[in-house]
Formats: sequence, C-alpha cells, structure tokens
Amino acid sequence: MPEQDKFLVDPFDFLADMFQRPPLFGEYTVDRLWQDEHISQRMLELHLDKDTELASRPHAFIERSAEWIKSRFEIGAKTVVFDYGCGPGLYTSRFARMGASVTGIDFSKRSIDHATAYASDHSLEVSYVLADYLSWETTDRADLITLIFCDLCPLSPHRRQTLFGRFRRHLKPGGHILLDVCSLAQFESKKEQTVCERNLLGGFFSPHDYFGFLTAFKYDSERVSLDKYTIVERGGVRHFYNWIQHYGVDELAGELGENGFAVQEVYSNVAGDPYEADSPVLAVVAQVV
Ligand SMILES: C[S@@+](CC[C@H](N)C(=O)[O-])C[C@H]1O[C@@H](n2cnc3c(N)ncnc32)[C@H](O)[C@@H]1O
Repeated sequence: MPEQDKFLVDPFDFLADMFQRPPLFGEYTVDRLWQDEHISQRMLELHLDKDTELASRPHAFIERSAEWIKSRFEIGAKTVVFDYGCGPGLYTSRFARMGASVTGIDFSKRSIDHATAYASDHSLEVSYVLADYLSWETTDRADLITLIFCDLCPLSPHRRQTLFGRFRRHLKPGGHILLDVCSLAQFESKKEQTVCERNLLGGFFSPHDYFGFLTAFKYDSERVSLDKYTIVERGGVRHFYNWIQHYGVDELAGELGENGFAVQEVYSNVAGDPYEADSPVLAVVAQVV
C-alpha cells in the first residue's frame, strides 16, 4: 500500500475498513513511524525528555539500568556491545563511558545523527550504523547484544526469527543477549477502544491539520494487541500499525529456545529488579545453547 492513499473511497467503506480487525501482523509500519520527517523529530524530543516513558524510558531509570548492566556483564575496556535500536544513544553513550567498544544500530537517521553529534561533542567513541537491524551484517562479534524498550514486540514471528538469527551470528561464543518485552500483565490491562480527535496526540503525526483515529484491537489467543492509527489529512490518509506481542516467561523462553537460545535469568526490567508476575515488562538474559 502506498504511504499516502488518495481519498477516493466511499466514506462508509472507509469507516468499515477502519473498524475491521486486520489480519495478525499483516502490515509492518515500524519504519514509517521512526523515519517520517515530522514524527522522527517528535520522537527525538520524547527520547531526550528525561521524564517521559514514550520513546525511551525516564533517564533516571536508564542511569540505574546502565549501572546494573555494567555490573552484571562486567562491562569494561574489552567488552564489545552491540545495541540494537540504539535511538539517540542513551545507553550506548553510557557503555562508551565505561570503556566498552560499542556499536549502535538504528534505522532512524534523526536519532543516528543526534547520537553521532553527541558522541563527537563529548569525545566518546561509538560506532553508529544507520541500518535496519533485521538485515544489518557485520564481521565483528559481540560479548553483549542489547535490545531495550520492548523492541522485539512489534515484530511478526517471522521477523523475530530473522532477528534471533542475526543475534546468534553476531555473538562471540559465550556472549549474552539482554532484552525486555511487554508482559501478559500488560496485555490484561489493555482494552479495545476507538478514539477520534482532531490532531490526535497533540500534532504528533503531522505538522498539518488532521483527524486521527485510534482503533485498538486485542487478539486474545495470540496475546497480541494492535493500536491502529488512521491519520486523515487534506488530500490523503496514512495508516500506522503498532503491533505488540506480549509474553509470559514460558512463552518467551519457548520462543528463544526454538531460536537456539537458553534463558538464564528473568527480571522485571533491564535494571535487574526481581521478576514479579504483575510487572508490565519482563526482561531476560540468554545465551546461545
Ligand atoms: C522504543 S525506541 C528505544 C530506543 C533505545 N533502545 C532506548 O531504550 O532508549 C526503538 C528504537 O529502535 C529503532 N528501530 C526499530 N526497529 C528497527 C529496525 N528494524 N532496525 C533498526 N532500528 C530499529 C527505532 O528507530 C528506535 O530508535
């Protein structure tokens, strides 16, 4: 589907389509969300806002999380870290200050440009790569791969399999992955709903006047939620599909197992807090079997 469709359909059909439950993981629009000129600027502002939990977690949490990662994985001068989906470098900068050899991979040019400028301004050595991590290749191998802020969850099972394949190839023998995902407790707290607002989310989707519709669906047996955004501007309409796969410990361990990883530790978050079943997030450390 082209990014912006001309508005030639009957309004009834348009609304019927909006309320229709889409096929599971049928449309992938993650790249559209992070790469759009206007939205990526709003995302960057959210990453850098130290108190919000929308694009990155609050900076006080990231500080605590980075310190925990440092002690858990003994990050120091010889540690090679690949941070998949590094955003503007909130973790990579901290790992670099610990002396690690760090590569940050992200397909948002806005974020990579910011991260690169920040590293240069603060004399930090970080290798930033503007790439889709589902296809990025390297001959280097990491001691630790991080995928932080539930970035596994928007991916279809097929894309997750692809990503795990990359992880397996990009790790040194004995290396670890650390990732967090949305939990089943978070799935339970969600509800199906429809919201319509002029300039939905305060102009997040466009610098121009628009009507934004959120239609939220739940796929109970698969534990998947979808926030489907339909953005209607003069002359066209755009769609954004925010899929989220939710996991219990067994489901995540099972999926990792099918992809050649064994879970070693389970936490409530990437700051190493003990696992609790009602936590909205769960984090794991895993190694290639
Ligand atoms: C929710 S943000 C988290 C950023 C960072 N991990 C943090 O916690 O501050 C997700 C990041 O992953 C990036 N991303 C998502 N899918 C990606 C892909 N397939 N390839 C590269 N980057 C991707 C986005 O551009 C965005 O910067």
